[in-house]
Amino acid sequence: ASGEIEIGVVQIVQHGSLDEANRGFVDALKERGYGPDKVEIEQENAQGDQSNLKTIVSRFKAEKPKLICAIATPAAQAAANEITDYTSAKLVQNDERPGGNVTGVSDFAAMDAQMELAGKLIPQAKHVGLIYCSSEVNSEVQANQMKDYCKKHGLAVEERTVNNVNDIQQVAESLIGKVDYIYVPTDNTLASSIPTLMKITDANKIPVIVGADIMAKDGALAALSVDYYRLGKQTGELAADILDGKVKPETSPIQHQKDYTIVINKQDAEILGLTIPEEIAKKANMV
Ligand code: TRP
Repeated sequence: ASGEIEIGVVQIVQHGSLDEANRGFVDALKERGYGPDKVEIEQENAQGDQSNLKTIVSRFKAEKPKLICAIATPAAQAAANEITDYTSAKLVQNDERPGGNVTGVSDFAAMDAQMELAGKLIPQAKHVGLIYCSSEVNSEVQANQMKDYCKKHGLAVEERTVNNVNDIQQVAESLIGKVDYIYVPTDNTLASSIPTLMKITDANKIPVIVGADIMAKDGALAALSVDYYRLGKQTGELAADILDGKVKPETSPIQHQKDYTIVINKQDAEILGLTIPEEIAKKANMV
């Protein structure tokens, strides 16, 4: 290693899914000959703070790295990578032909499949809560899809947004008695504070359905999710192809993962007094 940054990795916040993706990214690079013994990889975490993010990215850019891996939409908007919707985040011209120096792998899981899972777990539901952070465009696109689904299927949506983790408790409390379950997309702010949400929802027996596996491991009832370690590996493979000069970002389509895992938190099901239908329990990863 030369002592200068060759690959900069910037992650918006510490939470399980992003940590997994990060690990997958580094492992894939290593397998492709870009291990820490060969290239200088610098890891930075913005701890959920936008101004940290800016500082990190400008420091990276000043060092002219070969590549920056940005983990999650807010990080990618400050720099460039593993995010939900690249076009809405204005990072690419279109997903098929990005057209600039940004490409990557998306964690978007089909909304229909997520809502169908929720419908099987809580079949009597008529009112659904939705919580996300107003400044995350990744969440906004998922929220819009969720609302479309609910409209089509005759479900009423109670939508709430937070500015930061400090609003979670109050927003959750505002949904007590109003909803049959709450849906939380892959929102970086909520994902970093699932236990705060669960304290209110569990005490009031409101099931919480989430967009990412680790959020269910952290206490939520269920998720239908991509595998974030594999997503990170896929991103690392793409980065290695770029470093090898095999592909160029502008002509490398945004990649997606097509197979999902269902994760059910058994302990939370018990707290809620909910029986998991056999058909789901059979194929789910029970945590
Ligand atoms: N999809 C998020 C984004 O585009 C990032 C993300 C990945 C995430 N895994 C997650 C967010 C799990 C919350 C929970 O920014």
